[in-house]
Amino acid sequence: MTFVEQEASSDRWGFDEEAINSWRNSDPMKAEESKNKRIDHPIPPLFDKDSRILILGSFPSVKSREAAFFYGHPRNRFWRILSELLSCPLPETVEEKRNFLHRNHVAVWDVIKSCDIIGSSDSSIRNVIPNDLSEILAASPIEEIFCNGARSFEYYEKYLWEKTGIKAKKLPSTSPANAAFSPERLKNEWKAVLRPLKAAPPDTGQVLLSWYDYNARLLPWRSDPAPYHIWISEIMLQQTRVEAVKASYDRWMRELPDVKSLAEVSDEKLMKLWEGLGYYNRARNLKEAALSVMEDYGGELPADRQELMKLKGIGEYTSGAIASIAFGLPEAAVDGNVLRVFARLLGESGQIGSASVKRSITNEVYRVLPHKRPGDFNQALMDLGATVCLPTGKPLCDRCPFESACAAHHQGRETDYPVRPQKKERKKEKKTVLVIEAPMKDAEGERGFVLHKRPGTGLLPDLWEFPNLEGTYTGAKVSELADTWGLGDYEIQDMGKGKHIFSHVEWQLRGYRLITAGIPEDLCRKKAWKIVSRGNLENRYAVPSAFELFKKQILDD
Ligand code: ADE
Repeated sequence: MTFVEQEASSDRWGFDEEAINSWRNSDPMKAEESKNKRIDHPIPPLFDKDSRILILGSFPSVKSREAAFFYGHPRNRFWRILSELLSCPLPETVEEKRNFLHRNHVAVWDVIKSCDIIGSSDSSIRNVIPNDLSEILAASPIEEIFCNGARSFEYYEKYLWEKTGIKAKKLPSTSPANAAFSPERLKNEWKAVLRPLKAAPPDTGQVLLSWYDYNARLLPWRSDPAPYHIWISEIMLQQTRVEAVKASYDRWMRELPDVKSLAEVSDEKLMKLWEGLGYYNRARNLKEAALSVMEDYGGELPADRQELMKLKGIGEYTSGAIASIAFGLPEAAVDGNVLRVFARLLGESGQIGSASVKRSITNEVYRVLPHKRPGDFNQALMDLGATVCLPTGKPLCDRCPFESACAAHHQGRETDYPVRPQKKERKKEKKTVLVIEAPMKDAEGERGFVLHKRPGTGLLPDLWEFPNLEGTYTGAKVSELADTWGLGDYEIQDMGKGKHIFSHVEWQLRGYRLITAGIPEDLCRKKAWKIVSRGNLENRYAVPSAFELFKKQILDD
């Protein structure tokens, strides 16, 4: 056994006096080499302003001293383990190793500044002068210190921890001398570095797909994930719950089964098909994009993320979802669900809405995205976010495949993540809604309801609404108003109150039903009121869901 070629940092690298003595006695040159030599650490520390962990060995081995870089022995498992854990290619050259550490926010140094040592033998180390870590700790936001092997940990505890005030975690040595530790066991222990690095475990993709195989939700667009189906479903699902989308999706596909039918649909019908989903601009954008697909792509959605993003209404998220689910391309689709799952998994303490957090989480998603089933992986994240890693209330961690890997769960602080900016108070607007019922002019005996078309700009443009007034009216005040309008004979019924929340404003609604014997024609003209039949109210005119509470009452009659 040649001690000089062995790697330092081993906890099991026994310093065998007997072996050294017999080796020393066998050759005068070797005898000279085998003497304790005073050696100063020849490698500067590697760190930068973004380093999040510091990994400390004991002292560089002969091979490392020759290479003037850390962990230079070809059989040391440091580089392999770290690169596998971080799902990166194995760095080979010193330059690659340096870049790999910087890119992954890992600082590396050793606990010993100088010592007497024989070759690489940890156990021969005498007369230790420890390194000073203050420069690294002042310059880098180090969250955790790890010691590579028991010897390094021993010296850290003895000389350094009182100065740093940071408890180090001992990891089994990556040295070839620690061969008793299988690569798998070693990797398992070294997983501890991932949490402070905010890196997802390398088997994240596989774990998630296995979970999805048993837990995927049955959703209408999943049975035939054609590009058109995925596109429409994804646009509907933006800001809208899956349960609310299901029925709208089926109705849409019956009426508009392909891109061509969407490109040709009337605006009125388009709005009606979108009724209840909110954010009606999404439907207008769909039609505009369908016209472009007909004109520029021969009626087929392009199988390319950048091309998809040229279509109206398709952004980062939707292009990633279509590309991965419909075309099987390895693209991430990062929405609020995915951000929440990853923020918890990684213990991401930055604000979830910030561009930098979104970027770093997206990088992590790409890092673990399996190229074989990217669409399933993305959908699995969505399902996990919707059914287990819940947005409100306590998440169902005991059903989560990442329970043991999750940083938020580890800290017992699941609901502290994701970190959200303080919510701005929504403006509150009070409104009185009048459901005015009157005989239809051209249909004997049939009664209709007054609708009014909203202006073409602002909130809910061009949609139909029941006439409404600013403020909350009492029944008496409504009656006064009806008199000034000259409504003649009428009856007022209280329809109760409700509220509707838009992203920036909350409507607080109070409703009254005004059952009239007729409405003066000039009033209808002046107010641009239209009396529509019950059937058309149900099937033709798009009335936003803010009025659903009142519409439902009359349709249920
Ligand atoms: N939310 C957004 N897209 C989704 C999808 N494809 N499946 C389930 N939930 C979603």
